[in-house]
Amino acid sequence: MNNRYDAINQASSISLDFEGKAIAARQGETVATALLAANPGYTGTNPVSGRRRSPYCLMGVCFECLVEIDGRPNQRACMVPVRESMIVRRQSGLRPLALKGLQK
Ligand code: FES
Repeated sequence: MNNRYDAINQASSISLDFEGKAIAARQGETVATALLAANPGYTGTNPVSGRRRSPYCLMGVCFECLVEIDGRPNQRACMVPVRESMIVRRQSGLRPLALKGLQK
């Protein structure tokens, strides 16, 4: 193994659920790369314009990859490693922020 990509290519295949459909992924890759490889068209919509969006920077900066993972909204798909049987949903519209300590 020479680099991370070799490790991912040799890793075992797992499956995650995206919008009710099974998507194949490799241990060690991120949710964003698994979704891009599966070509779902888009992964969410912009909360202001409603335009479709998909992962862009793949390094946690642009927030274009926000999805709901296992019921938790506002997850950056490019920063979350895939896990077997995780459930991923497109994120559309505004989601509540989890502001611990500020809520009554
Ligand atoms: S793709 Fe830019 S933050 Fe995830």
